Amino acid sequence: MLYKKILRPIAFKIDPETIHDVVIQSLRHASSVPIFPFLIRRFSLVRDESLKTRIGNLEFLNPVGLAAGFDKFITAPQAYSMFGFGFAELGSITCSPLSGNPKPRLWRIPDDEGLIVYHGLANGGSEHALNKMSVLGKHNIPLGISIAPTTGLELKDMSGDYLKTFLRLHSYADYITLNVSCPNVASCEKFAQVSFIKELAEKMRKLTKERGIKKDIFIKIGPEFNDDDLERIVECCVSNEITGIIAINLIKDRNIITPKSSVEKMNHPGGLSGGLLRKKSNEVIKKIYCLAGDKLKIIGLGGIFTAEDAYEKIKCGASIVQIITGWIYGGPFQAKKINLGLANLIKKDGYKNITEAVGSSSKIC
Ligand SMILES: Cc1cc2nc3c(=O)[nH]c(=O)nc-3n(C[C@H](O)[C@H](O)[C@H](O)COP(=O)(O)O)c2cc1C
Repeated sequence: MLYKKILRPIAFKIDPETIHDVVIQSLRHASSVPIFPFLIRRFSLVRDESLKTRIGNLEFLNPVGLAAGFDKFITAPQAYSMFGFGFAELGSITCSPLSGNPKPRLWRIPDDEGLIVYHGLANGGSEHALNKMSVLGKHNIPLGISIAPTTGLELKDMSGDYLKTFLRLHSYADYITLNVSCPNVASCEKFAQVSFIKELAEKMRKLTKERGIKKDIFIKIGPEFNDDDLERIVECCVSNEITGIIAINLIKDRNIITPKSSVEKMNHPGGLSGGLLRKKSNEVIKKIYCLAGDKLKIIGLGGIFTAEDAYEKIKCGASIVQIITGWIYGGPFQAKKINLGLANLIKKDGYKNITEAVGSSSKIC
């Protein structure tokens, strides 16, 4: 209430990237004061057996995570457990640092509860990420690192670039995400395609086998793939022992959405987040679940603002979910609200644990 009535109207008067930088620096300070994180966490963390789940080697106290894109510079990695998240994904990180697209590169579209994102993969690079992660100490929740390719590379060099970043960072992350879906860089069309995903998954498997690396790896896809593509992606993920698929990244194709926002508000380059993604992401999750069943785990995201939104993704086939726009619009305790609501919805449907609800509204093909 305080956030939506007072803090958000003030924050939304300020340029989105500026306020984001202020918030993330505040989170960094807050998480470094010893007693503060402990107290906030006590308030935010929903302890309920029905929310506990497991994917691969990862254990989650609850299924609501923070999505990639909030903490691109690994500024406040210890802060997210304070707000009741079950896990958090940092980055996306590229092998070399990138300054991204010129500012402004982030716009709000409140009528659609969304953002237009044109960051262009701005981040501090893998060396910077390594320095940040190596001094972290124990993680309170699983922390994933999302990896993307350095902008401007030839397609033939891209998989090598991912592998280099993976080798640098894997031992400091609880899981790694290979982001093959970034829509805001010129080289995107080269790598957001099935043949590249296949090449990358095969090389990753070879590398982890050769080096004896046991790490949960996810592939994050965008909304642009048709049913045949999804079938090939699922096949290649299963055969290369990828833990799961994260669906979906920002929507780039404006023809597949019907915004309420004015033409003027929409008149910026970039990918769309938030409410406009909900329907498409549920469709993609259903399709992946139908194809993969238990062979792959799905992390579902796109337009989650409420427990009902999260539960719908779980019933479509997601084992766990992530939010970012929902956190920005909903406020600091949004993960707590969603978790409390989820625990009720699970019980109402007669389930003991969230895992029993996974895919309950989808068919296995
Ligand atoms: C400001 C912002 C930056 C983002 N940056 C990244 C990124 O670096 N890597 C990535 O995989 N996804 C990124 N995303 C996409 C989100 O992780 C997510 O897939 C998408 O926004 C849908 O979730 P939402 O509706 O909860 O926002 C970004 C999203 C936003 C809003």
